[in-house]
Amino acid sequence: MTLAHAPGKVILFGEHAVVYGRPAIAVPVTQVQASARVEPGEAGQGVVVVAPDLERRMVLREAAEDEPLACIVRLTLSLVSADPDPDLTITVTSTVPVARGMGSGAAVSTAIVRALCQHFDYWLTSRAISDLVFQTEVLYHGTPSGIDNTVISFEKPIYYVKDEGWEVFWVGAPLLLAIADTGVVSSTKEVVANLRQRYQAEPALHVPVLDRIGEVVADARAYIEQGQRETLGRLMDENHVLLQRLGVSCPELDRLVAAARSGGALGAKMSGAGWGGNMIALVTEETRGRVDIMLRLAGATRVIVTEVR
Ligand code: PMV
Repeated sequence: MTLAHAPGKVILFGEHAVVYGRPAIAVPVTQVQASARVEPGEAGQGVVVVAPDLERRMVLREAAEDEPLACIVRLTLSLVSADPDPDLTITVTSTVPVARGMGSGAAVSTAIVRALCQHFDYWLTSRAISDLVFQTEVLYHGTPSGIDNTVISFEKPIYYVKDEGWEVFWVGAPLLLAIADTGVVSSTKEVVANLRQRYQAEPALHVPVLDRIGEVVADARAYIEQGQRETLGRLMDENHVLLQRLGVSCPELDRLVAAARSGGALGAKMSGAGWGGNMIALVTEETRGRVDIMLRLAGATRVIVTEVR
């Protein structure tokens, strides 16, 4: 039996502006994990993927080409095994919230690749795993940016520029983040399309905001590398104001951001697409408890505290 895990992710800085060529920073969230267990199955069964939480059971040889779980299993087996349909049972579980911008699809795919590699005693670099997972991200998201598979397979912060690439970078002093869910469901596609319309109607209004976000992201990377948490917190606050000006925040997000600050967070902002979803706050060991309480009192449906190092 082999067991492997992969974390979730959040976007720390630069969401939306990244669509317009400015940089973004994403970090792994190790507090939540997808897990995959590979065990020998019955003779002749082929590969069976079981997801007990989702009450799903998939027989590989019956699965469609574009089924994401089947796709990642087939891609991985083509590299690590001479037999494309060995008798194996793969059990998948995950604590990464689904459809909340936390990379649940990429986390599950990464855990499966890692578990199969271990089972077949085959070594793949993080980059090779990331490239495999990207191919299934296309099935989940249509036109994925590549952020999720990269940050999740490297398990390090990444600095990402669309069409140019990404760099893994180092954290000068560990960052403690509280990630709170508004409970409001939004569609990334819809928010991105809405901003695109407004951007095209009035580029002169939006370009300076996007440019400033780009500067904030570049500065944020430097402060993360230097371990300057107070300054980083102030940049999160500024990034949130800029996202409000882009019209992608909402009252629920603004309320949680204000609550985190009143609880003593060093900074707070929405994270991901907006109009709902998650916000993040930079906290310390001293403030994490108070911020958690303030967030829940302000309506957060879930609070995850995670350390980035
Ligand atoms: O849904 P998330 O958290 O992965 O965030 C989407 C980020 C956007 O910048 C809004 C869109 C994108 O494709 O980068």
